[in-house]
Formats: sequence, C-alpha cells, structure tokens
Amino acid sequence: MECVNWLLVGAGDIARKRVAPALRDAANSELAAICDVREDVARELANDLSVDEVFADFDAALANSSADAVYVATPVGLHTELAVRALEAGKHVLVEKPLGLSGADCERAVDAAEVTDRVAGCAYFRRLSPRYIHAKEMLERGEFGQVVAVRMTYFTWFNPEPDDPKYWRVIRSKSGGGILSDMGTHMFDVLIGLFGMPVSVFAKCDNLVHQWDVEDTGTMVMELANGAHVSASFNWNSKTWRHEFEVVGTEAKIDWLPYDAGPVVKTVGRDIQNVDLPNPENVHLPLVEDFVRALQENRAPCCPLAEAAKTNRLLDAVYQSAEKNTLVECGG
Ligand SMILES: NC(=O)c1ccc[n+]([C@@H]2O[C@H](COP(=O)([O-])OP(=O)(O)OC[C@H]3O[C@@H](n4cnc5c(N)ncnc54)[C@H](O)[C@@H]3O)[C@@H](O)[C@H]2O)c1
Repeated sequence: MECVNWLLVGAGDIARKRVAPALRDAANSELAAICDVREDVARELANDLSVDEVFADFDAALANSSADAVYVATPVGLHTELAVRALEAGKHVLVEKPLGLSGADCERAVDAAEVTDRVAGCAYFRRLSPRYIHAKEMLERGEFGQVVAVRMTYFTWFNPEPDDPKYWRVIRSKSGGGILSDMGTHMFDVLIGLFGMPVSVFAKCDNLVHQWDVEDTGTMVMELANGAHVSASFNWNSKTWRHEFEVVGTEAKIDWLPYDAGPVVKTVGRDIQNVDLPNPENVHLPLVEDFVRALQENRAPCCPLAEAAKTNRLLDAVYQSAEKNTLVECGG
C-alpha cells in the first residue's frame, strides 16, 4: 500500500489539536474521512482541513468511506467497540489511549486484532519519544547499574462543568477512571515499556477535593521484577503543576522534567548533565508515521493492542488495591 487513507472517528479536542494534522501531514498518509456523532463538529474540522467525506454514523462511515485505516479518538468507553467493528470491517486501526475501560474490555479488541492480518495499535506515542528511547538505550547499555527506584508525579487542576465536552472524563463508565485512567496510563505505559509489568502494587485512591465517581487523587507503591520500588502520585486537584518521571540506578539517574518537554537531566555519580534531545512539535506525527511504516513493512506498530492492554490490567490492579486496601499482584 503506497498511501494510507484514514477515517478519523471522533472530531473533538485531541483530533483537532494533534491527530487530524498528523494524519494529514504524515508521509504516505491521507485524511480521507471524518466521522462524529456531532455532525457539525465533524464538518467544521473537515472544512478546515479540506476533507471531503463527512459522516455522523460510524457504520455508514465504515461502509461508504474510502478509508483503509480507522483512527479512534472518541471517549474511552467507545474505544474497543469501535476498534472491533473497524477490524471486522477489514480496516487497520489505531486507537487513542487508554485502549479500554479495563483489562477485560481490552481483551475484545486484542482478540479481534489477533484473528485478522490488519495492523492494530494504541496511541501511546511516548514510546517513540527521544527521551524514552534514550532511557531505553541507557538501560540496554547497563548505564544505570542496578535500577533501584522509579518516581512518577503528575499534578494539575481539572474541574470541568457538566456542560463541558470533557465532562465524560469524570464519568467512570465513559472514562474508566479519573486522573489514573487519563494521565496515569501514559506514565504506566512508559513504565511497562521500560521495565515490563510491575510485580505488585499497593494503592490509595481518593476524592480529596472533587466529588465525582472517579478519583482526583491516586498514590501508589509498586515493585518491579528486579525488586526496584516505584512511587507514583497523580492529582487532579492542585492549581499548581508538575509532570515528572525519574529513573534511579546505583550508578546513574535520569529525570524528565517535565515529562514531555524541556530538559532531560542525567546524573552519573555526582556529575549532572543536561541531555539535549529533540521534542517533536506534534507528538502524534511520529505515532502516525510509525503506524504507516508498520503497515508498509508488515510489522507491529510501536504499541500493539496486546501491549496496550497491559496498562489497563495494571490500572485494574491499582483500583483493586485501593478498594481492598491491600497489596495486589499484577500478573503478566
Ligand atoms: N494521546 C493523548 O495524549 C491524548 C490527549 C488527549 C486525549 N486523548 C484521548 O483521545 C480521546 C478523545 O479525547 P478528547 O479530549 O478529544 O475528547 P472530546 O470529548 O473532545 O472528543 C471526543 C469526540 O468523540 C465524539 N463521539 C462521541 N461518541 C461518538 C461516536 N459514537 N461516534 C463518533 N464520534 C463520537 C464526540 O462528539 C467528540 O467530538 C480519548 O480517548 C482521550 O483519552 C489522548
């Protein structure tokens, strides 16, 4: 296939900001069609990007669009259902993160992907970021010595009004959880990509400020396969802001401050260096380019569905631990 024609389903915030421009701008990639239940929103985005095919109904889009791949950018509760329908219609599929509401929900999509020859991936784009690759290479070269600790922190303020389009994020049946499902999953995916699935977790989740049915606070201690400790805290209830990822070894450590942009600080013994790494302007562009190349090279994309489902299984273990106030084994 020379050029991948995309159907984008969900024309909301992330679609407009990053996904649609990436589908349009990536090499050998064409944004052919846009579908949203809010047809006016789909049409507006289509007009802005000169896309001809607009749909309000996903089945009609699957049947009638010229697309051979579907990008799912709807609220989380629809991800696996739409992904399965796209795969069953013979389309390749790239799904926003997290893959599903739970590990069990993800299995539907993982199973559907296994029985087709279509390419299926999840949008955990950080696996392609230069800072992730740098940390992975440091691990492979043994530069950390023995990894003894990982620290993950994210806090910000989130308090959508009920009429805010983003309100679905605080409704568990639509989002799968609060700050942990939204931002925690990105950082869990990086953790799993670098170190594999943690062995166990002890977590505490709370609503300290906002009275939703999803947590505004999640704090946890995990154990990695080599025995290293992970401490993580996520808050949607502070008007201050922090977004950090730190790996500490016996010989060296690395800090991403913040996690997505800005300096990477590498410390070897007492020697502190800033590592200059490029930060792509649109992080979805390398993601789409990787997916298109995967299709052309007949290989898996950077985060296949089975890999993405691990993050949901870890999230299940976190919630189970918090609910039962006990240590939970994470499984494979
Ligand atoms: N990768 C990232 O960094 C990142 C960042 C933000 C959001 N996201 C993910 O992207 C997804 C969308 O988030 P958002 O902030 O753009 O949400 P949003 O609410 O702004 O947009 C979702 C869109 O989906 C549409 N929609 C709902 N049901 C639909 C259906 N059945 N068929 C077609 N369209 C339907 C809505 O009308 C809306 O326009 C979520 O999964 C979110 O977790 C990822």
